[in-house]
Amino acid sequence: MCGIIGAASSRSVGKILVNGLKKMEYRGYDSAGLILNQEEKAVQIRTLGKVSNLEEAMVQEKPKADSGIAHTRWATHGAPSEANAHPHGSCDNIYIVHNGIIENHNDLREQLTNKGYAIKSETDSELIAHLIHSNKSKGKNTLEALIKTTKELDGAYSIAVIDTDEKGKVFAAKQKSPLLVGKGIEENFVASDPLAIAGLAESFYLLEDGDFAEITKTDIRIFGSDGNEVNREETPIDTNIQEVTKDGYKHFMEKEIYEQPEAISRAVEGRTTEGEVLDNIFGLGSSEAFKNVKRIQFVACGTSLHAAKTARKWFEELCETPCYIDFASEYRYRNPLVEDHTLFVCISQSGETADTMAALNYAKEKKYLGIVTICNVPTSTMARESDWKIFTNAGPEIGVASTKAFTTQLAALLLLACAISKIKKINNDKRANAIDDLHQAPDLVKESFGLKKHIDEIVEKIADKKNALYLGRGVYFSIAQEGALKLKEISYIHAEAYPAGELKHGPLALVDEMTPVVALAPEDELVEKLLSNLEEVKSRGGTLYVFGNSGSKIKIDKGKFMNMPECGYYNAPIVYTIPLQILAYEVACSRGTDLDQPRNLAKSVTVE
Ligand code: G6P
Repeated sequence: MCGIIGAASSRSVGKILVNGLKKMEYRGYDSAGLILNQEEKAVQIRTLGKVSNLEEAMVQEKPKADSGIAHTRWATHGAPSEANAHPHGSCDNIYIVHNGIIENHNDLREQLTNKGYAIKSETDSELIAHLIHSNKSKGKNTLEALIKTTKELDGAYSIAVIDTDEKGKVFAAKQKSPLLVGKGIEENFVASDPLAIAGLAESFYLLEDGDFAEITKTDIRIFGSDGNEVNREETPIDTNIQEVTKDGYKHFMEKEIYEQPEAISRAVEGRTTEGEVLDNIFGLGSSEAFKNVKRIQFVACGTSLHAAKTARKWFEELCETPCYIDFASEYRYRNPLVEDHTLFVCISQSGETADTMAALNYAKEKKYLGIVTICNVPTSTMARESDWKIFTNAGPEIGVASTKAFTTQLAALLLLACAISKIKKINNDKRANAIDDLHQAPDLVKESFGLKKHIDEIVEKIADKKNALYLGRGVYFSIAQEGALKLKEISYIHAEAYPAGELKHGPLALVDEMTPVVALAPEDELVEKLLSNLEEVKSRGGTLYVFGNSGSKIKIDKGKFMNMPECGYYNAPIVYTIPLQILAYEVACSRGTDLDQPRNLAKSVTVE
């Protein structure tokens, strides 16, 4: 899982490529590199670590060329190192950058070694360069050699290629990893994400699986899997993504936390009227199809999975529909038994996560009622491959730790629950409450930002610890899981969440004065039970930090009780998420971690 970009232009492309990589660092940031197809000799620069290191190296070397390709890496095959960084070359002639995984790499390595190719890295990607070179040496031109090469590859790839004999050209191929061709003025691009070429290109063509492209500064040619030229739909670049900046915030994550009121409003806007959800907000024919839903199967990864877990109760209450929830990476390996009239729902910020995508493809072969995708990226593969979809409209999320994507997913899930309950004509009052709560959510989220001051007072007490426990009951257990995930992702403090009732069945053994325990205690039907669980923590010397309502009966030092806004039943899980995000963010800031790009992680995981 990596980001790739290529450019052919009437101006020098070095800076364009580096800036494009910077915008795609969410896809990986353990090493970066580029090759510029200069007139005399191609110049290759590769650096370990972030794109800023590549940028520094560029400043020193000042290479100039009107075409080139570049890559930011998240290591899969081979450790992060300069030798494993892309681009990879063959015989000083063919250079490639690759995103994806080549599954038959062992066979190819053996085959190419026998042919006399010296393989210099541990990557599967390098083999692609040698294969193209080998096919070209059999009398094919570069494009033909690329097409022939892809027939020999098993797996997923988006590839950009330059040939030192073909100055001013970039070639590309796509199979199961995202790739688009961007159209500018006197310059054209290939890239993994429109974000990389925002501000440069006016529009783009999404490539389909099996497509190839050849670009120069003036021409774009796209070919289908049979090698014949094809037309793909031209999409204007969304002006909202033209400039993604931190707007004065220290980190993207911080900005994205504080953008949530507007993001949630956008997720709901135009999809409801007074007390009712509009028909077909998931696409034409969706409402009619939802009439027959008897069960729902959710699949997702990471934060998106927590959204499904939180929303289950809404589906059970509003639509009286049982739900199954699977880790996308596990779902298809348990040979799921699909009952009639089961709706399959994918949740994904990016709409590209390989495990979720693989689950979706698997589900297509099964007798599901249909596939719904809830995602934030309208151009994503999942959106295109689903029967019905809704976009969360959160706007670009750059911080690796997901924030506004999660709360807008909750809003979209509540809309889905309402849409099903409406067509089934059940629970009309509850549905009206749910919609009312959705409309109130942005203001309540804004109000919850007021807790930041209080959270600041407890930050240092958590920042120096090695472990933390998060507790909740009912849907608040899922919110606690999301809070714990945030803390561990960006502060590297080991944090686990438990349903509070489980505490005594094991985790209580971990409780001591060195283990902060964060508990979510809204005044709901489970609060009394939660209170006794929290007493168990107190009596073992644990330090409790509680987020709850003003009327809470919990007896705890004021400094450790965070007074939440008075929320509605349906919007409280959204609102209770916010202080946990702020807590994780502030703790990570205090520990000085790289919190927009935490170690070992990437935002878009396009490998299984
Ligand atoms: C990665 C990200 C997580 C995200 C997960 C699923 O692990 O670091 O923040 O929740 O992928 O991503 P998706 O785009 O499918 O929601």
